[in-house]
Amino acid sequence: MWDVYDSKGVLLLHKGYVIETDKQLDILLARGIFHISDTMPEPDTGKPIHREESSPFQLIDQIYPRLEKWICSSLPETEKEFPSKIMGLCSSLQRACAQDAEATLSTIVLGPAGRYSIKHSVDVAIVCELIGQALKMSVDERLSMIAAAMTENIAMTELSDILYSQAAPLSDEQREFVHAHPASGVERLKALGVNDPLWLSAVLSHHQSSDGRGYPNGVKGESIPVSARLIAISDLFCAKVSGRSYRQPLSSHQAMQFVFSAGEGQIDADIAELFVKTLGIYLPGTFVCLTNSQIAVVTRRGEKIQFPIVYAVTGRDGMPLPGPVYRDTSHPDCGIARVIPASEVTVKVNRYQLWGYSDFNPRR
Ligand SMILES: [Fe+2]
Repeated sequence: MWDVYDSKGVLLLHKGYVIETDKQLDILLARGIFHISDTMPEPDTGKPIHREESSPFQLIDQIYPRLEKWICSSLPETEKEFPSKIMGLCSSLQRACAQDAEATLSTIVLGPAGRYSIKHSVDVAIVCELIGQALKMSVDERLSMIAAAMTENIAMTELSDILYSQAAPLSDEQREFVHAHPASGVERLKALGVNDPLWLSAVLSHHQSSDGRGYPNGVKGESIPVSARLIAISDLFCAKVSGRSYRQPLSSHQAMQFVFSAGEGQIDADIAELFVKTLGIYLPGTFVCLTNSQIAVVTRRGEKIQFPIVYAVTGRDGMPLPGPVYRDTSHPDCGIARVIPASEVTVKVNRYQLWGYSDFNPRR
């Protein structure tokens, strides 16, 4: 099932709407019907489109089901192959980031809805990879770090999904489980054949705090591995930009303010600056309302960080456009008025079009 549009991109029917009469169908056919989805669009020429099988979207989209399979499986063969399979997923994630960091970052906001615990782990791994690159960490160090990010909550996958929807405070039993998950996660990983010390230490320490108030054992400051500190910051940032089922997500700017003010000086200024430089004030994939009332998607950082590259996806009347249209956010008529949560946007966007992975190349 899909949404139906006319030749001007005007939404005619929402997915799931049932056409009840022949007359309705005749009217729709007379207007022409179009489907806009998050897939590679067919070209106007009628020639078959060449699908780029390794676009960042495809690379990342393939990781979710595979990670879920390897994290949640208790089959005996899992134990033999687990470390190499997870490393394979980490290599795919590194390829996506190397190919197009901003398109890859956009999956945090625009990636397919799925199991929260799995999607969140991949989100955290993407941020860690890019911050690790900016810190000039070696490929191997980054691989260990993102493997840890993908498996940080292996001991509480189901509880993570429950907490995503739970507005009430943690019960005593849940709190105990949460406090135990770094150590029990390490035990689980060891049982699955992981013996990489960087991977294991990052999982063990991903809830430590510089002031010693973290868990499981209150390690302080420099004793906490750098990779664990980056995972902790990325974890909090991604949780804030994704929101919860009962709480709206924050914009990346607000999320960064929250993360760094929550750190109360524990996160040094250099790391904070690196996050802003790497992720931008507006995370790629963020929906914004422009001063001209159009809804647009942030695709890339601009030359100035406060003026990102955006493409309008609706007209001023809120109706979907047939294709994305570049808007200059430094111009007063097209400035960013506010961030809109993705959950409030009813227009479907095509990531392949917006980031130039189709025959439709967005023009500036
Ligand atoms: Fe955790």
